Amino acid sequence: MEQLLGELRAAFQAEKDAGFTINNSQDPASFKRLNDRVQLLLKSYTTSNPGGGGDWRRFALFNSTHYVRNLVEANEDFELLVLCWKAGQVSRVHNHAASHCWLAVLDGQMREIQYQRAAPPPGEEAAAAAAAPGGRATDGGGAGDPPGSTVYVEATKSVDMKIGDVGYINDHLALHSVGCYTAPQQLPPSSTGGGGRGDDDGGAHTGGDGDSGWRLEGGVTLHLYSPPIRRVKIYEDNTVSERTPGYYSKGGVRV
Ligand SMILES: [Fe+2]
Repeated sequence: MEQLLGELRAAFQAEKDAGFTINNSQDPASFKRLNDRVQLLLKSYTTSNPGGGGDWRRFALFNSTHYVRNLVEANEDFELLVLCWKAGQVSRVHNHAASHCWLAVLDGQMREIQYQRAAPPPGEEAAAAAAAPGGRATDGGGAGDPPGSTVYVEATKSVDMKIGDVGYINDHLALHSVGCYTAPQQLPPSSTGGGGRGDDDGGAHTGGDGDSGWRLEGGVTLHLYSPPIRRVKIYEDNTVSERTPGYYSKGGVRV
């Protein structure tokens, strides 16, 4: 993980040193360089640290009631998180502010569903227009959606992701939700027996070399946001809300 962090820091620093601002409206050539590099680094890390054997495991804390965000590193350029999803846990539809969002699957099987704005259903056009005085944004993101406004979205793409798969999204492309749609009974048999990893207790299950205490509880994903995201918009029940994303743990320690 330290090697990955070092190479990520260098990749972002190189673009800054060249005079580029890093966000979802970045210079296209600069973004292509960065995106190629980040995707390669994430792919390389995930495929060489698959499943419970990866050194990401000390960050991988789960919670029974909802997926959780575990912070690995935050700096002025990016934040890197390990998100843990028990079987059946799914995020709400959300945006990514002005940031880049990369995600890679570390363990389990995940699904990303992308969304675009949709026309109001027949009979609700007037109400939708009244609730969204600013009009509809033209891109896939949420820059123009004030909290409380009415926005209809529709799923336009579903991507099943396995270990080593890397995805990218920003507000110009789409909104999305991410989740582990695996049913508990579909998890590998070894994942259901033996206890060992409690949840909600905040313990960092570091294990030892060759330790077999890891049991797959659903899915684990690695997320890189640049710049770090301070506020996200949630699209639920045709209504926009805004929240400050929190952390379940930092550096493997429950907060
Ligand atoms: Fe996301």
